[in-house]
Amino acid sequence: MKIDRSTIIKDIIGKHPETFAVFKKHRLVLAGGVRGPNEPLAFFCKAHGVDFDAIVKELEEVIAEGPKEGTLLPPLVEDTIYTRYVKTALVLSLTVGCTFGAGLLSYIALKFDYSVPPVAYVQAHAHAQLFGWIGLFIMGFAYYIVPRVKNVDLHGRGLTYLSFWTMLVGVALRTVLQTLPNPSLGFLLPLSGVLQLSGAGIFSYVIFRTTRASQEPRELFDKFFLAGLTWFVFASGLNLFIDGHLYRYSTLEIPSSLQQNLNQLFLFGFVFMFIFAVNLRTVYAFLDVLPPRATAANVAFWLLNACLLLYFVEYLHSWLVYPLAAAVFLFVYGVRVFERPTKELSDVSMDRSYEKTIRAAYLWLIIGMLVRLAVPSLGDYSPIGHIFHGASNHALTVGFITMMMIGYASKMVPTFRGVNLYSLRLSELTFVFLNLGIFLRVFGQILIPYNAGIFYPVVGASGWVEVSALSFFAYNIWMTMNLKEELVKEKEMKKIEKITKETIVYDIVEQYPDTLKVFVDFGFKQLENPVARKTMAKMVSVEMACQLKSIDQEKLLKALNACLLGKQTT
Ligand code: HEM
Repeated sequence: MKIDRSTIIKDIIGKHPETFAVFKKHRLVLAGGVRGPNEPLAFFCKAHGVDFDAIVKELEEVIAEGPKEGTLLPPLVEDTIYTRYVKTALVLSLTVGCTFGAGLLSYIALKFDYSVPPVAYVQAHAHAQLFGWIGLFIMGFAYYIVPRVKNVDLHGRGLTYLSFWTMLVGVALRTVLQTLPNPSLGFLLPLSGVLQLSGAGIFSYVIFRTTRASQEPRELFDKFFLAGLTWFVFASGLNLFIDGHLYRYSTLEIPSSLQQNLNQLFLFGFVFMFIFAVNLRTVYAFLDVLPPRATAANVAFWLLNACLLLYFVEYLHSWLVYPLAAAVFLFVYGVRVFERPTKELSDVSMDRSYEKTIRAAYLWLIIGMLVRLAVPSLGDYSPIGHIFHGASNHALTVGFITMMMIGYASKMVPTFRGVNLYSLRLSELTFVFLNLGIFLRVFGQILIPYNAGIFYPVVGASGWVEVSALSFFAYNIWMTMNLKEELVKEKEMKKIEKITKETIVYDIVEQYPDTLKVFVDFGFKQLENPVARKTMAKMVSVEMACQLKSIDQEKLLKALNACLLGKQTT
């Protein structure tokens, strides 16, 4: 097999399963269905700091030797831990999240007044989006990504189901209780807060223990993950305090200072830290730029966390936006998002559709922070201050965070699965509609004070443009998560008349099921597992199987052909 910079890892392992051990050694492939990612070799070498020529030499040596006793082979079962989180987050966002938000926005536009929707409804929307859309999405992805970047197994996999259900039931309870006022059920509010805090606590424990178990050297992104976990638990604790407040005072409206604190800790503490951590680890390869500037990223880290700690001092709020913005701009400089590509990967043919999404997300981050810098001079609690704050909030939550989630999911879910994205067309439509919707919302909203007649309808329509974009994305990524990985082109299975050393194990058992007993008698116990037969056995010939298990090939061929003959004669 000729290996060059664009050779797809999945094809190398598909043809030569014995190469799996080489990739594992270079922390390359614990992703991509059961045969490794649908990624060019040169891309992975850049992403994992591996010398291309050195690994090609290693691969060619292993292929020349062929599989031998105890050769490490790809895992048999695909890790799909993220799918239930991502699918549930999408359903929540397209129901009580963005769609409900778009409804609120149309009502605001209809009434030419931001204060018309019941505050409890706006806060229920925000809650469903913060903990439901973003919270569940990040939890699912982190359970998949963190063990892989730390090259260690996930600690406490069983607990991940508990964190899923406690978070989901907590969010659902709170959203329903805050939108369908029924004072007699008020006592369930603190319960929803306890459930969400448990979900966040279990998630943080599992991720923390997983990173602690890793033998990998500590890297720049590690402390961002750790800080993110801490703020997630903090924000969930504050959320429980808020639920207690709503229950104690039998109200469904959260005092705006408490809501602002929660938004701030959740967005800048938990979400930004996790996004920045993953960006530090991957953006330089995804965008083919130089590795991040460590000093700039470190200063941004400490400045951002210092601002969040000081945010508990109410009267510092309007002043803190300046160091906060400085920390964010410093991080953008550190991660080199807008810098010229190194062209290291310019010769490699690969899907790069996610690049513009990652850059657009950072553009909205800068715009969101610039609009936020204008708020103190306009007056934090003044009507125009509220409008600018809402516009900045939207640029950050939809423009940066949601756009980044879409960019990464469109890149990584196909990688996780070892398949191609279901539709590049839908990915383009998502990109255009989402940027158009955010542009209309953010710039339409800050221009309302200057011409309400024109810009309220523009803002009112923007929500539905964004919901369309999210629907395109949801359908595209859902179909990609459900795509069946074509392990080996289902080439027309020729009728086997005689089994030779080149014959593929899967074809033999498929055409002559009685041969399964022969294989098992010769020691291929794992073939009793139908997943193994549908995955591994499709890649292995009789010769490779015998080499892997040091089994007498002639003896096995004789027994198999005898079984065949028996079949053919009956
Ligand atoms: C299609 C997308 C969305 C639409 C149409 C939408 C609509 C709205 C509306 C109409 C408001 C109240 C406006 C105001 O009073 O300023 C609002 C507030 C808010 N939204 Fe969204 N939203 C969307 C997406 C998101 C996302 C993805 C998040 C992510 C976390 C989010 C979080 C929030 C928050 C935190 C608030 C402020 C709540 C407060 O502080 O009271 N929204 N949104």
